[in-house]
Amino acid sequence: MRKKIVAGNWKMNKNLSDTKVLLSELKAQLAGVSEAEIVVAPTYVNLYSASEALKGSGVKVAAQNMHQAENGAYTGEISADMLKDIGVKTVILGHSERRAYFGETDALLVEKVNTALKHGIKVIFCFGEELDDRKSDNHFNVVESQLKNGLFHIDAANWKNIVLAYEPVWAIGTGETASPEQAQEMHAFIRSTIEKAFDATVADEVSILYGGSVKPNNAVEIFAKPDVDGGLIGGASLDAESFAAIAKAI
Ligand code: PGA
Repeated sequence: MRKKIVAGNWKMNKNLSDTKVLLSELKAQLAGVSEAEIVVAPTYVNLYSASEALKGSGVKVAAQNMHQAENGAYTGEISADMLKDIGVKTVILGHSERRAYFGETDALLVEKVNTALKHGIKVIFCFGEELDDRKSDNHFNVVESQLKNGLFHIDAANWKNIVLAYEPVWAIGTGETASPEQAQEMHAFIRSTIEKAFDATVADEVSILYGGSVKPNNAVEIFAKPDVDGGLIGGASLDAESFAAIAKAI
């Protein structure tokens, strides 16, 4: 049975003091929520204190990005080893903001995915079409190519360390969400694409999260779809009450 996961991507929000407050509120609000695995991704500088604060709580900590090299002269970057050493075992890769503002290409993501997997770090792999792609009815092609180019080089055995996050770019931070039917249609397409390239077990076991303006008032409907295994939450993850409400919607 594939896992249900609700992950919060805090992006460049919350300083250390805010992080401490939000984490303690989250621990209180999420006590007893066991239907989904809960993940939070604070900014780099607060990962260590978050991973210490969440020890024993069952809530996992993820990084929002990671460099592909082992170490070396890459000013401003963070390695897989550094993440593991502070107890971070999950990384978000390929977020549309990384692709759009930091020039991350499919080829670069292949390197990052490989480094993460080599170090036993789980990858939440994000991908999704832009508004123009959907308007021109090209969204399935775009999604298929991001998926194939970024991930289809890995071995079937490595899929257990991959979580997919389908995030249509037009729905991120816009308040406009894909309808539950649009999400289900794309998630089913993603699963069948994986089944064709690998096998039914790989396709059945991989969790596919939906991301893009998930809020407490739309989470239940979206999560009810059979191929939607949870969400990657941006804005609504910055408030303990709304994030907990979304987690409970699972
Ligand atoms: P949003 O962000 O929930 O604010 O739309 C989602 C994401 O970027 O992962």
